Amino acid sequence: MRFTIAIDGPAAAGKGTISKGVSAHFGFAHLDTGLLYRAVGRRTLDGEGPEAAALALTPEDLNRDDLRSAQVAQAASKVAVIPEVRAALVDFQRGFARRDGGAVLDGRDIGTVICPDADVKLYVTASPEVRAERRYLELSGNGADISRHQVLADVKERDARDMERAQAPLIPAKDAILLDTSDLSIDDVLMAAVAAVQDRVSPTD
Ligand code: DC
Repeated sequence: MRFTIAIDGPAAAGKGTISKGVSAHFGFAHLDTGLLYRAVGRRTLDGEGPEAAALALTPEDLNRDDLRSAQVAQAASKVAVIPEVRAALVDFQRGFARRDGGAVLDGRDIGTVICPDADVKLYVTASPEVRAERRYLELSGNGADISRHQVLADVKERDARDMERAQAPLIPAKDAILLDTSDLSIDDVLMAAVAAVQDRVSPTD
């Protein structure tokens, strides 16, 4: 059975938690596509050219334990505006989406560019302030020396770059179901996401 779920939205909106929860609920494989861009960004911080880094990406790059920092997030957002970088990552993502047994992909352009024919599209969002607070708690909880003010500025800067870039900007697909997580607990959002998917999963598949 092939069944593709596309989950898009800005940084720290809750995409990761929702994607993991939905994929676990339905027994589907999950790909966090942001990790691909983070891994490319990480390699550029180490001095490599962005396109060469994207073409040379290996599974080990995705398993690095230093991809979650604010510095790597900004580097990821910067390499993500480069068309050659995006092009180098398309086939892997589409192949993953078509795997047998169902797939959940989360990112910025999954429902619009990578999988425009996805069976279900969710667009997960929340206000910049709510997202920045979540990201601040996550980063400071991991020991990062960073202020709330700095995290909010980073979130807004990354939003602007991700939403205003020429290629594959972050926008909801026309047929996406919108989930605003600003005033909802993550459990409530996950229930809403599972219900939306359940509606489209054919019982005969
Ligand atoms: O989801 P994330 O915060 O890990 O993503 C890091 C950056 O990667 C994000 O700011 C923009 C880029 N990205 C993208 O352009 N397209 C995707 N499908 C996923 C991430």
